[in-house]
Amino acid sequence: EAAEKAGYEHFMLKEIHEQVSAIHNTLAGKVSELEGTIYLKELNMTEDEIRKLSRVQILACGTSWHAGLLGKYLFEQLAGIHCDIDICSEYRYRNPVMNDGTLAIAITQSGETADTLAAVREVMSYNCPTLAITNVVGSTITREVDSVLYTRAGPEIGVAATKTFSTQLTLLYLLAVKFALSRGKLSPNYVKGFITDLRKVPGQIQQILNQKEIVKECAEIFAHAKSYFFLGRHLNYPIALEGALKLKEISYLHAEGFAAGELKHGPIALLEKGTPVVIIATKGQTYDKVLSNIKEVKARDATVIAIAGNKDSEIGKYADVVLTVPQSSELLSPLLNVVVLQLLAYYTALARSCSIDKPRNLAKSVTVE
Ligand code: G6P
Repeated sequence: EAAEKAGYEHFMLKEIHEQVSAIHNTLAGKVSELEGTIYLKELNMTEDEIRKLSRVQILACGTSWHAGLLGKYLFEQLAGIHCDIDICSEYRYRNPVMNDGTLAIAITQSGETADTLAAVREVMSYNCPTLAITNVVGSTITREVDSVLYTRAGPEIGVAATKTFSTQLTLLYLLAVKFALSRGKLSPNYVKGFITDLRKVPGQIQQILNQKEIVKECAEIFAHAKSYFFLGRHLNYPIALEGALKLKEISYLHAEGFAAGELKHGPIALLEKGTPVVIIATKGQTYDKVLSNIKEVKARDATVIAIAGNKDSEIGKYADVVLTVPQSSELLSPLLNVVVLQLLAYYTALARSCSIDKPRNLAKSVTVE
């Protein structure tokens, strides 16, 4: 086992680092910067079928559901396709209304989650095309759906998903941009720029990893907090949810993620002096609103840990702690921000002497409904 960990103390830390190569491998052969094109040859859909799509229905559980939630923003914002997302254990029992032109996408790193398989069987009864995003070749889901896109993350041993999540996001970006191209919503020129930026992501993640000691220091300061809150907006709302889930899973700290705009509708009542509140504050269309949220949190004497771009000279005036990521486009910022949150969860669990790779009560895949 020590050899498999390649010098890392835990599989989770190794897998956080492996995101650099995992994203690179997931992109390999799928993007052409020169032509501004995305190639997804495993997708069994014609250009005409893509153009005629009227809706995407995403089905997933846990961390994969968080990836799907970002997918919803991408399909709607980039490709102009209406997108619904359901938690699989809910989907089956709510008598969903389905119409022609729907593509169902199941996201499951293991390909074995019983709730996801059951939801896929339900959606297939409506005769819509099905696509799975998974990390495990030959897993059960791959035998049931029309098309399979594989994340090239390699085996993930740590129960808390890290590199499978960021590679799921990578494929969702590619899929949404491909659909946008086919439907004339984005130009090849825009896509060239997007691919250039996407190709930079592995290197930018490496820069975050090079500064992991700063995240460790922050984690140690708050490792014995009673509760932790995570706030994000727009594309980084799913990342706030994922940050809270990672912390819960491996450090057993109470953590909640919220859309930052919802703070004032209830969660703000929970804030006490010194409560750590992680706020994702990388630059984008909601940046000013996020600054307002930071002020709301500070006014209640809670402690703000901001995740911000490394060129942001303003944020330090408002936040108590600033954890930086390399400057990127707003669109791709979730891929960087999540790495900081994974490290925060990891080092918090380490400071609390938790069983990081095999947290209590959790399994890598849940094969009962
Ligand atoms: C389990 C794992 C989670 C995972 C969820 C869905 O609960 O502990 O990390 O997100 O299952 O797994 P899947 O394989 O379907 O992505």
